[in-house]
Amino acid sequence: MMGLALLPLLLLLSLASTIQGQSIFDVTTYGAKPNTDITQALANAWTEACASTTPSTLLIPKGVYQLSQSNLKGPCKSVPIQVQVEGTLQAPIHTKGDGLVLFSYIDQLILSGSGVFDGQGKSGWEKNNCHKKKICTKLPMNLKFSFVTNSTVKDITSLDSKNFHINLLGCKNVTFQHVTINAPDESPNTDGIHISSSEEIYILDSKIATGDDCVSVGDSNKQVTITNVTCGPGHGISIGSLGKYTKEKDVVGVTVKACKIFNTTNGVRIKTWPDSAVAFMASDMHFEDIEMENVSNPIIIDQEYCPWNQCNRKVPSKIKISNVSFKNIRGTSATPVAVKLVCSKSIPCEGVEVADINLTYSGNRGPIVSECANVMPTITGVQNPQICAKPATIGAPSTD
Ligand SMILES: *[C@@H]1O[C@H](CO)[C@@H](O)[C@H](O)[C@H]1NC(C)=O
Ligand SMILES: *[C@@H]1O[C@H](CO)[C@@H](O)[C@H](O)[C@H]1NC(C)=O
Ligand SMILES: *[C@@H]1O[C@H](CO)[C@@H](O)[C@H](O)[C@H]1NC(C)=O
Ligand SMILES: *[C@@H]1O[C@H](CO)[C@@H](O)[C@H](O)[C@H]1NC(C)=O
Ligand SMILES: *[C@@H]1O[C@H](CO)[C@@H](O)[C@H](O)[C@H]1NC(C)=O
Ligand SMILES: *[C@@H]1O[C@H](CO)[C@@H](O)[C@H](O)[C@H]1NC(C)=O
Ligand SMILES: *[C@@H]1O[C@H](CO)[C@@H](O)[C@H](O)[C@H]1NC(C)=O
Repeated sequence: MMGLALLPLLLLLSLASTIQGQSIFDVTTYGAKPNTDITQALANAWTEACASTTPSTLLIPKGVYQLSQSNLKGPCKSVPIQVQVEGTLQAPIHTKGDGLVLFSYIDQLILSGSGVFDGQGKSGWEKNNCHKKKICTKLPMNLKFSFVTNSTVKDITSLDSKNFHINLLGCKNVTFQHVTINAPDESPNTDGIHISSSEEIYILDSKIATGDDCVSVGDSNKQVTITNVTCGPGHGISIGSLGKYTKEKDVVGVTVKACKIFNTTNGVRIKTWPDSAVAFMASDMHFEDIEMENVSNPIIIDQEYCPWNQCNRKVPSKIKISNVSFKNIRGTSATPVAVKLVCSKSIPCEGVEVADINLTYSGNRGPIVSECANVMPTITGVQNPQICAKPATIGAPSTD
């Protein structure tokens, strides 16, 4: 009698099934149905998976589902915690907020699957003027990882985000592998992966096509490695922009290797604001074995980065750039200025090494050239174009 009465209660305690010691929390057993909003079902499944005392997998099976902002917060009781997404998760067309799925305070998260995070950004893009103005309507990102550690994100796709696709804050030892990011060329502010205040971040074997930077390495980062990433269309792979806000700290150790960049406005770039709010350094940044095709600014250090005239260009940047290398970079430039190294007038770049650059320009706006200011790089190997052929203009007045 007693046992029978308890049975329904026991069923309510956990809807998980167990396969090979892994507890599987399938959102469809929590009431998620294709073509409906599964926000509550996902929240319930996460709460149980995260509280589980055995390693668990939260599963979103194949199908199209609607989802509103979801906070998947740790710490979880047992690790690793897997989230396997095979379905498509669609954000509401009109929405505000931080993001579609927010992972935070989780150690040993494994996010995987052939699923798609679809931000349905098209309608919001025309409203997104945050790149032009200080006060603007903030649109949600697709995926945010805040204070996530020792984790892996693999195989998933981020589509048409309203804002950045993927944002990392305060993360440590996180690997992105075989990730696909897709949004059109003309979608504003849709950075592929933006990293800040993080360390030991790896972005590997991924394809990024978007309307802004494919990867942007912001302030206060250490040890970021980007390998075998295809980028285009987009604005290239960037470090920065740095120096806009007072709380920013050093960037140390960024390696970009074996990447293909095509149909982008920039290739590999370091950008800092003039009239910086703070003084700090950006060092140990290495770009190697990069193939470019139809890239407007293939190699660029820009310490006079000031889009939409949001700053005073006359005051030099206070960010000290040192220990930078550009090695074995080849392909085609879409403009004659293929290499631009414009450093701060008050704090010139130091320890810049340029080796084996073979870029060509086939347009009719003159010969391929480099432009340099406030930098004296060490140059070796092939030089197409000639690097800083004219003497570096340390101390020369800013052109603006
Ligand atoms: C990084 O995280 C992985 C698990 O994803 C773990 O195996 C590895 O030991 C961690 N590395 C460090 C240096 O903590
Ligand atoms: C990440 O993994 C490393 C190595 O296993 C471990 O020392 C560290 O405590 C982990 N980080 C967190 C926040 O659990
Ligand atoms: C580079 O990444 C692609 C996926 O984008 C993968 O197919 C390829 O095997 C990777 N190459 C290497 C050398 O790992
Ligand atoms: C070069 O890239 C631009 C976009 O940046 C694109 O409009 C143009 O068609 C591309 N040209 C070629 C020859 O691929
Ligand atoms: C660059 O853009 C042009 C024009 O849209 C396109 O034909 C070409 O395939 C693109 N390049 C690559 C490598 O995808
Ligand atoms: C420059 O980079 C090298 C190699 O990453 C490193 O060993 C060295 O300490 C760095 N020097 C400075 C001054 O940061
Ligand atoms: C530079 O690239 C061009 C075009 O790809 C190629 O024909 C040439 O041999 C390369 N030069 C060197 C020195 O590698």
